[in-house]
Amino acid sequence: MTILIVGGGGREDALVQKLLKSENVKKIYALPGNGGMARRGAICVPIGTKDIEGIVAFARARAVDFAVVAPDDPLVLGAIDALEAAGIQCFGPNRRAAIIEGSKAFAKGLMARHQIPTADYKVFEDATAAGEYAARCAYPIVVKADGLALGKGVMICKDRAEALCAIDAIMNRGVFGESGRSVVMEEFLTGPEVSVLAFTDGTTLVPMVASMDHKRALDGDLGANTGGMGAVAPNPFYTPEIAARCMREIFLPTMRAMRSEGRTFRGCLYFGLMLTADGPKVIEYNCRFGDPEAQVVLPLLKTDLLTILKAVAEGRLAEIDVEFSRGAACCVVLASGGYPGEYETGKPISLGAAESLEDTHICHAGSALDANGALVTSGGRVLGVVATARDLPQAVGRAYRGAEQISFEGAYYRRDIGQRALGALAGERRA
Ligand code: AMP
Ligand code: GLY
Repeated sequence: MTILIVGGGGREDALVQKLLKSENVKKIYALPGNGGMARRGAICVPIGTKDIEGIVAFARARAVDFAVVAPDDPLVLGAIDALEAAGIQCFGPNRRAAIIEGSKAFAKGLMARHQIPTADYKVFEDATAAGEYAARCAYPIVVKADGLALGKGVMICKDRAEALCAIDAIMNRGVFGESGRSVVMEEFLTGPEVSVLAFTDGTTLVPMVASMDHKRALDGDLGANTGGMGAVAPNPFYTPEIAARCMREIFLPTMRAMRSEGRTFRGCLYFGLMLTADGPKVIEYNCRFGDPEAQVVLPLLKTDLLTILKAVAEGRLAEIDVEFSRGAACCVVLASGGYPGEYETGKPISLGAAESLEDTHICHAGSALDANGALVTSGGRVLGVVATARDLPQAVGRAYRGAEQISFEGAYYRRDIGQRALGALAGERRA
């Protein structure tokens, strides 16, 4: 089959590497792809992920058999609807279903209508009303832009002055554009965070191995929010008891709620959870694989990925036995100096022996091939070193040995990816 993948980050490279293991995959086009995917033989074409017309025209011209749309923007813009209308089979939710990520106000309303546990909240469409609420709400409060904001639309405000500043930035100054036309103000929750990605065709839902993201730029969860500086799987805070409770109280109710509201979700549904003292609660939904969660979850998948993606598209997920290995995986992201603020690009990348280390591979994100075919940096998050092993301590050790091999000017990475998870494991052994 000829496959088209929309996207060009580490998540998409993880998908490409998994799909290349499938014997039914003959050719992969990536729009726009990146340097790593190109080195693997994917044909990368500079069409932007928001250029829906360009994506559809390309897919038709190249007789693509199956398309995987990975990023949030094209899904929310209706890329799946447009590809399907052109007769191309796809993996991903249509526009009506992708709203579960595209509008936080919608997501909160859905949870309220269907009694799905989440933080208490209020939605405001005007800044004055939001400001009045800031005068009487409890602190800290979490202020969120309604729409997509590159993962930056969430502000945790410790007092009224900070909340007013966040409301002003989102609603009056429009720093997130249209995404900030309304705001969600919600209760601040505490507890370990867990990401659960699930395959669903709208009727059957199969959760994948749970993982843990590391969103802040610096060690100890300090510094600015980023797209994600590393991840581990499995997530040791997510016990079988909690998993069963999430399936019962959150995952299946969400799938059914979407179907009952005429928004049947087919694709990968991402549950961002917080394990609070009152039980697991939803922090956010995403309508796609997480990045960098996909980089640690997909390597543990034993079942052929294309078989699952096609079954989801055809509403046959119940027929597939989705299996994961019992091992663990860790991804350490190497970023350009300055990221998530300003950074330079075009720096030559040396991978050293990273790719020949045992059970270690690289998922490229902001890398490109220059005119001479040499690998150079082209983005903030440049690449992720992914290692798998029998258990988490080994996977973390391996990923760091890989990271040490790699160099480019300005490179930095967190030194504590997986430490919180390892601490939980050590606690379990002591208990
Ligand atoms: P999001 O972009 O919605 O994933 O939010 C980014 C991060 O903000 C999450 O991973 C949490 O760490 C934090 N966050 C979001 N909502 C809440 C909340 N209600 N309480 C505490 N932390 C939150
Ligand atoms: N890792 C969080 C996300 O993909 O949004």
